[in-house]
Amino acid sequence: MREYKIAAIPGDGIGLEVIAAGLQVLKVLGERDRGFKLNVEHFPWSSDYYKKHGYYIPEGGLEKLKQFDAIFFGAVGAPDVPDHVSLWGLRLPICQGFDQYANVRPARVLPGITSPLREGQDIDWVVIRENTEGEYSGSGGRAHRGLPEEVATETSIFTRVGVTRIHKFAFELARKRPRKHLTLVTKSNAQRHGMVMWDEIFYEVAKDYPDVKTQRILVDAVTTNMVLKTWSLDTIVATNLHADILSDLAAALTGSLGIAPTANLNPERRFPSMFEPIHGSAFDITGKGIANPVATFWTASIMLEHLGEKEASVRLMKAVETVTARKLLTPDLGGEATTAIVTEAVCDAL
Ligand code: IPM
Ligand code: MG
Repeated sequence: MREYKIAAIPGDGIGLEVIAAGLQVLKVLGERDRGFKLNVEHFPWSSDYYKKHGYYIPEGGLEKLKQFDAIFFGAVGAPDVPDHVSLWGLRLPICQGFDQYANVRPARVLPGITSPLREGQDIDWVVIRENTEGEYSGSGGRAHRGLPEEVATETSIFTRVGVTRIHKFAFELARKRPRKHLTLVTKSNAQRHGMVMWDEIFYEVAKDYPDVKTQRILVDAVTTNMVLKTWSLDTIVATNLHADILSDLAAALTGSLGIAPTANLNPERRFPSMFEPIHGSAFDITGKGIANPVATFWTASIMLEHLGEKEASVRLMKAVETVTARKLLTPDLGGEATTAIVTEAVCDAL
């Protein structure tokens, strides 16, 4: 029996609801498969925990987390905690502390779901987001607070090591996909230092991947292609902020933010990787029982693949697609199903 140690961090809002659903499905899958077992430990780190203790991650918390094979994360963010505090308190220390530099965000229209685009039904993209530096480096400061001469800086940091490794990762992934096509997204016309370096390093790395077709598009232009020429894209690599924005667009174009999964990978496996739905805590629907669990199921499937459980990963995704194809959908997708109904249906399909 193959066993894996999973750290579950449901976090805030609907994070609790979807991680519970995800674990329910994983349990059924494990029992059905009999080949592997997930030993899940829960971590209560959240905004409620922060309000009680004054920190999201207790001392030694990251050290403890290091011993796990993977982290299954819900969402962080609460109406009464500034977003930059919750983000820098929980999610970024894990992504950056565990060097999870490759953020992978697949976008595909699942059976039974309709793209809002007339010709969007065939969308099958993977957005690769640099996940440890760039615009999210946290470098900058404020002076003369509140005075008319107040000044603030927010510096993007791009390193040769950081840029080279994300491009290599992107080429490797693009190479494994049928179309072997990689789009480089930057803004190197206006931003003439870091972005130009991104472009240069991309083409240096490209020399080792002659079988991968490449394309370079500015970030503003790629949004129009995502809407009007969906077929022209396959694998996309972009900076932390650009890919953050593009992946929300990609999710919306495939039907809903409620289905979009993420992997925060440390490809060298020196640290555990973290898997999460990208939708966030969604306090407007928290407690209503209508959160879409599909993003978390898809995320769980990617986590299984990362753990080496390929068969179970494929089986889980097939079960999810069987359920979406039957139009058992939550309200974000125009349906009336609850989280529980979709979850039960996926368990039955398994
Ligand atoms: C995401 C989210 C986060 C991000 C937020 C919650 C800070 O939008 O995972 O895409 O920008 O990284
Ligand atoms: Mg985002």
